[in-house]
Amino acid sequence: MPADQFHALRDQWDRRYAEAPQLFRAEPDESLAEFVAPLPPGTAVDLGAGEGRNSLWLARQGWDVTAVDASAVALGRLAEAAARSGLSVRTVGEDLVTFLAAARDAGDTFDLAVLAYIHPDAHGRPEILSAAAASLTAGGHLFVVGHHLSSLGVAGPPQAERLYTEDDLRRVPGIDVLSLELRHGDSDVSAPGTDVVLWGRRHGSVGVTPAS
Ligand SMILES: C[S@@+](CC[C@H](N)C(=O)[O-])C[C@H]1O[C@@H](n2cnc3c(N)ncnc32)[C@H](O)[C@@H]1O
Repeated sequence: MPADQFHALRDQWDRRYAEAPQLFRAEPDESLAEFVAPLPPGTAVDLGAGEGRNSLWLARQGWDVTAVDASAVALGRLAEAAARSGLSVRTVGEDLVTFLAAARDAGDTFDLAVLAYIHPDAHGRPEILSAAAASLTAGGHLFVVGHHLSSLGVAGPPQAERLYTEDDLRRVPGIDVLSLELRHGDSDVSAPGTDVVLWGRRHGSVGVTPAS
């Protein structure tokens, strides 16, 4: 994302977070907790971590967490909450695609990538999903939850193109779908409505050229 667009996004979210001492609820996403609980802890990246409810929960479970977000206000809250709880979470104030491109160039990969209620436009969504999938180790997991199109006017952004359908998540490059379903109400950040939830795993062979 060009720097001027990133600064506008950062300022917009900083203003939104500054409106309340805590904008989103503190509990982790229920679907994330359900899917991740059986896994051994590893490295995780929380993309658009906000105030960090999912990052903090993951860190509490023993995951080594990197939290990326545009908003300095949100990341400041996350860092304070982590310090209060004696947890360690790396915070990065950057655009998600810029961060993922740099991680890829550096050869950094993660065992888990989380995208919770990130609603870019129709061009940005596949870009972020592909980059998140590419950041995973072979066998690493991708978790996505977002407001479903049927929630238009009830929850999430007011533009239909920013809301998810199951088709948007069915064919993320390199990802085998383990679960893709609609869930209601309580996995939402702030309002009732319907969510789409993807739990997927990166192919073992993606990006690896077979020996001839
Ligand atoms: C609705 S909040 C969700 C926060 C958190 N994932 C949760 O579930 O509580 C969306 C967050 O994504 C961040 N965000 C959206 N687009 C971003 C981008 N392109 N780069 C970095 N952060 C972004 C915003 O700053 C905001 O904190």
